[in-house]
Amino acid sequence: VTATAGVLLVTSAAPLGSRELSAGESAQLAALPGEPRKRTWLTARRALRHGLAAAGLPGDTSAYRFPHRVASLSHSAELAVAAVLVADPGAAVGVGVDVELDRTPDVRTAQFFLTEAEQAWLDTVPGDVRPAALVRLWTVKEALFKADPGNAGTVLRDYGLGDPAAYRGAAARTGGPMSAGPEFRYVSFALPRGAVSVAVALSHS
Ligand SMILES: CC(C)(COP(=O)(O)OP(=O)(O)OC[C@H]1O[C@@H](n2cnc3c(N)ncnc32)[C@H](O)[C@@H]1OP(=O)(O)O)[C@@H](O)C(=O)NCCC(=O)NCCS
Repeated sequence: VTATAGVLLVTSAAPLGSRELSAGESAQLAALPGEPRKRTWLTARRALRHGLAAAGLPGDTSAYRFPHRVASLSHSAELAVAAVLVADPGAAVGVGVDVELDRTPDVRTAQFFLTEAEQAWLDTVPGDVRPAALVRLWTVKEALFKADPGNAGTVLRDYGLGDPAAYRGAAARTGGPMSAGPEFRYVSFALPRGAVSVAVALSHS
């Protein structure tokens, strides 16, 4: 469990047990296709349940629909991560988390989630560390997208980082149909098998 900038990160590699589910969670689970998806979903709910308890928030995860102002989920391989805003959110209007393990985007896909300035920076990164930079940027973009309460009309490329080299920094919507979106702060952590990033969206007011 790691706390940073008012966000609690909780991981789980095990699912919630069926006897631990609320009626709402049981109904949501029943609607999911296939055992792998059900296990992934339950593993994420276990992480979220613990995060909500630590933050003193209601623990029925079925009440949380995403994007959500104080909670976000991600899963990769056997691991799920929940991010929960723990302090008074104040200016925060959303939180997002993304974890990637054992997966590195093909460099040819960079054009689909990086802005032109970010792609130009990536071109300057030495080839041996470029995969790590790419997976970090991928998780940052996914975290920004998830933190954005207005993400229904956006894509990853619409979010621009102030400094693509930075493990923590600021970002904003720089393109797309609604470029006047919230401001963002993000932080990334390198993991032995990938990366995890967390973003918080802040209202201008
Ligand atoms: C929906 C999306 C964010 C999921 O991300 P992912 O990396 O595939 O999967 P993750 O495991 O990290 O995240 C899944 C969780 O994201 C959350 N989520 C789904 N849609 C969301 C949304 N619109 N906003 C915020 N969170 C969302 C859910 O909690 C989901 O877990 P759950 O199904 O157990 O509830 C992603 O597929 C997406 O749409 N990205 C942006 C679209 C885009 O620009 N695509 C172009 C890519 S080049």
